[in-house]
Amino acid sequence: MLFIRQTPIVLLSVVVGFLAPKIEVVAWAQPANIFLSTTTRTTTALNMAEMSDDKVEYSMPDQVKRFANAQETNNERFLDISTVYNGGELSGKRILVTGGNRGLGFEITKEAVSNGASVIVLCRSTNDELEELVGKYNVYSGVDVSDNVAVDKAFKRIKSDGGQLDYVINNAGYFYEPNETILDASLNFEEQLKQIDICALGPLRVNAAAVNSKALADDARLIIITSQAGSCEWRATQNKDTGGDYGHHMSRAACNIGGALQAEELRKKGYSVLLVHPGFNRTEMTAKYKDIWDIEGAVEPSVGAKRVLYEAMKSSMETTGQFVNAEDGLRIPW
Ligand SMILES: NC(=O)c1ccc[n+]([C@@H]2O[C@H](COP(=O)([O-])OP(=O)(O)OC[C@H]3O[C@@H](n4cnc5c(N)ncnc54)[C@H](OP(=O)(O)O)[C@@H]3O)[C@@H](O)[C@H]2O)c1
Repeated sequence: MLFIRQTPIVLLSVVVGFLAPKIEVVAWAQPANIFLSTTTRTTTALNMAEMSDDKVEYSMPDQVKRFANAQETNNERFLDISTVYNGGELSGKRILVTGGNRGLGFEITKEAVSNGASVIVLCRSTNDELEELVGKYNVYSGVDVSDNVAVDKAFKRIKSDGGQLDYVINNAGYFYEPNETILDASLNFEEQLKQIDICALGPLRVNAAAVNSKALADDARLIIITSQAGSCEWRATQNKDTGGDYGHHMSRAACNIGGALQAEELRKKGYSVLLVHPGFNRTEMTAKYKDIWDIEGAVEPSVGAKRVLYEAMKSSMETTGQFVNAEDGLRIPW
């Protein structure tokens, strides 16, 4: 296990993707305007794709600093999503969630149902709590997002059961537990391909099946939960001098370019595509990083669910193809 081999500081510097390279919180070296609160955003009504890079407000790559900055500036949007979130808009919507059986996906499902949405869950294995929440017939179990046949079959059934999905939330994901490095000779190519299949091809498979089965409402929003780990630019901060986690981070970079291409192709059909980093959530996936949940600002998945749904509700043809951090609503560079 990674934690046994490393010193605490090295540990904190290798658990990237969700994390940041150092634990000390230092004074900001960056110009103050980089850290403008999202509540002052003025760009949402513009076509972001047409804006030059210097006008785009980006989130901060260093997760420790990002969280500390939110606290110092009392950024309510970051620290308490309920100050901006109103799930009422979800009432009457038809929402599909992949991997909605546990973790963040289950909380998204729960939150949407509590606001009057009808939620269909695609998952590998079901459970009583889920079936009680959404209704047995809205659970499509035995569906692995890396299985073309199972995904296509599920969407054909969804279409014949009424279709008209307003949102497709691609949440299913997988992060191989051990850290992979070249120098430790710990690369696991089989696991790398598995992560790419689930995290990159999974959302492409699901969205393609949703489109081609005609299971979508006219202005459906395709949401892809990805990770900041897919940002190439942020590797120089988050994986500085360490690299590692090849399979997971490569899978999310591939996921991101898949989302950018889908946004371009599906614009003419009226379907928007949003790539969302859901923030750092206290789930089974991140239990290996438990020691730094507090300093990195990890939240309960019920909070992460509201953050994701907030960004999903804001998504539109104007924002299609963007890669957004659900913690602060700011964009993440490719
Ligand atoms: N937690 C975070 O801080 C964080 C940060 C960045 C990104 N994310 C992303 O957010 C999403 C949810 O993460 P989480 O923290 O809730 O993870 P989690 O607790 O590990 O849950 C993962 C979910 O994905 C499902 N899944 C995995 N492989 C699948 C497959 N091949 N086919 C269908 N479903 C599959 C799991 O279903 P089973 O029960 O069948 O395994 C489970 O429902 C993931 O895409 C993750 O990469 C999370």
